[in-house]
Amino acid sequence: MSGYGHECADIVRAARKGSYKIGMILGSGLGALAEEVEDAVRIPYTHLTEFPVSTVTSHSSELVAGTLAGVPVVILSGRAHYYEAGDPSVMRTPVETLKELGCEILLATNAAGSLREDVAPGSPMLIRDHINWSGKNPLIGEEDEKRFLDMSAAYDPELLEAMKKVAAETGDPIADGVYMWFSGPSFETPAEIRMARLLGADAVGMSTVPEVIMARFMGLRVAAMSIVTNYGAGMQTHALSHDQTKSVALQGMERMKELVRAFVKEVG
Ligand code: HPA
Repeated sequence: MSGYGHECADIVRAARKGSYKIGMILGSGLGALAEEVEDAVRIPYTHLTEFPVSTVTSHSSELVAGTLAGVPVVILSGRAHYYEAGDPSVMRTPVETLKELGCEILLATNAAGSLREDVAPGSPMLIRDHINWSGKNPLIGEEDEKRFLDMSAAYDPELLEAMKKVAAETGDPIADGVYMWFSGPSFETPAEIRMARLLGADAVGMSTVPEVIMARFMGLRVAAMSIVTNYGAGMQTHALSHDQTKSVALQGMERMKELVRAFVKEVG
């Protein structure tokens, strides 16, 4: 199966010539990173064939192509989620577009709940591995043998090391952990969070895993980072809300910008 990546890449190339090295997907409240891109063209998703426009208010839904720290990048500012229409391959065309534009690396970002007391809201956490708790997979329906995709090093160990190195060089060392994908859109219950901790998760969220599977399927190397916006349900006294996700993601933004810029410079 294929999406409209080829067509969308032509639209991007018509607006800005060139090939790109790193593609990024920005999660809830993290759109400000796209403002850092220089020599940029900004293309609304509505101008790109079959690009899914997210219904989540904190997502801006534009593709930004340009340079960051001198490295050619394509930023997808805003993602659609499985929980919006029940399609785990909703991000197929955007990920394919990154691939068609020459990107070799995908840096996926998201907002997540922390299951670790030592990783507080506002902190970044690198994703070292994931647990797909949703039971959904974006490769369902693929007929090629390639669908039996090896996921044993889905989060590229070299890129993980590069991110840790730049984190230590630019400030505090960064935690890494296992991200567990729940379908959402309701948050987890305290019992689900206790289960997730028992099963070895360090963070929970409603995104990223399907895009990582698709990116690996397309041969991209993957790095991923969460901004922790809250502790998991039952680990904090107040209720969870999307407002908290948005406002705490903003607080973590400065560090995230610094890390992403240094990472791009290191691996680009
Ligand atoms: N659970 C799921 N998704 C999230 C959370 C959470 O606690 N915080 C931010 N996104």
